[in-house]
Amino acid sequence: MNTTIGLIDNEKNIERASSILNAGGLVAFPTETVYGLGGDGLNTLAASKIYSAKGRPSDNPLIIHIANIDSCYLLAKNISEPARALMEAFWPGPLTIVLQKRGIVPPETTGGLETVALRMPSHPGALELIRRSGIYIAAPSANLSGRPSPTTAQHVLEDMNGRIDMILDGGPVGIGIESTIIDMTSELPTILRPGFITKSMLEDIIGPVEIDIALLSSNELIKPKAPGMKYTHYAPKGELTIVDGFDNSFVINKINQLVKAKQEQGQKVAILTTGQNSSFYLCDNIIKLGNDTKGETIAAKLYSGLRLCDELEIDFIYSEAFNEGELGNAIMNRLVKAAGHRVLNV
Ligand code: TXA
Ligand code: MG
Repeated sequence: MNTTIGLIDNEKNIERASSILNAGGLVAFPTETVYGLGGDGLNTLAASKIYSAKGRPSDNPLIIHIANIDSCYLLAKNISEPARALMEAFWPGPLTIVLQKRGIVPPETTGGLETVALRMPSHPGALELIRRSGIYIAAPSANLSGRPSPTTAQHVLEDMNGRIDMILDGGPVGIGIESTIIDMTSELPTILRPGFITKSMLEDIIGPVEIDIALLSSNELIKPKAPGMKYTHYAPKGELTIVDGFDNSFVINKINQLVKAKQEQGQKVAILTTGQNSSFYLCDNIIKLGNDTKGETIAAKLYSGLRLCDELEIDFIYSEAFNEGELGNAIMNRLVKAAGHRVLNV
């Protein structure tokens, strides 16, 4: 298959992408969080194409992307007042809401579950594509299963060239980590995946919200409620270790020690750091994630930093912990997984 690329802010490309989706083909497109790999969510064949393009286990359900709140009522049922309040507060935007599905949504899209995950992205190009195609677009992140989510069209091409029909290029995404997922079918609303929309932002609208306990534990026997959260995601090829500590200088010293030891063994080493700390390190590959300790800038660069480590064929990666603020939870959720839970406390 020949994968074509076109800029998303071009009428003709949106038109082409719409025809592809209507014919059951696959189109990758930017959202405000990460690039998605889109197909017709109500077409079982398109859904199965998505799974095979990604190499994704078929028990891992897809998020359906919509362009207006009314669509929810066609795809889902028993939508509660609080669920509706969340839609009105955060859509369009980086929040995915899990609801009870209607029969129109095939089990192929929901991994056999009786629930469906819905999201209205805020990226204008993504919204335009949904509207123009008239399709409810099922879209996982547009990476090969197990690789970091793509935050540029170039990342998508690396993973998907020859596997999908088209990539719509909208430049680097704004947020950089996947949407927050909240389950509104459980007794207490439950966060299944942390993201840019934080617990307290949700609680401001609907009161108490739980966090899936599997997210807070490294015990692999506790299964997360979002099937996708159980897989080792985002993993770079090199061995990643996070060094955490209250005292910044302890962290820097420890990382410098670890780097020195590996470099002496002839290994290729990289450090993931904030711009602020970067000048304190001695290492051939210092990858700056943002200019300060602000979560927003770190989230935006996290996945491209992990991908860069692969490109440079790094053997060992040492990262600072980026705990600061509420967005820190979402960032550390991804980073700790990428590190296979290898965290050193100093
Ligand atoms: O920001 C995002 O959400 C991006 C962009 C493209 O929209 N999409 C994304 O999709 O991250 P994906 O497939 O990479 O992750 C979807 C997650 C998986 O962990 C999956 O298990 C969970 O959502 N999920 C989907 N449907 C679900 C359901 N009915 N119940 C529980 N979890 C669900
Ligand atoms: Mg994904």
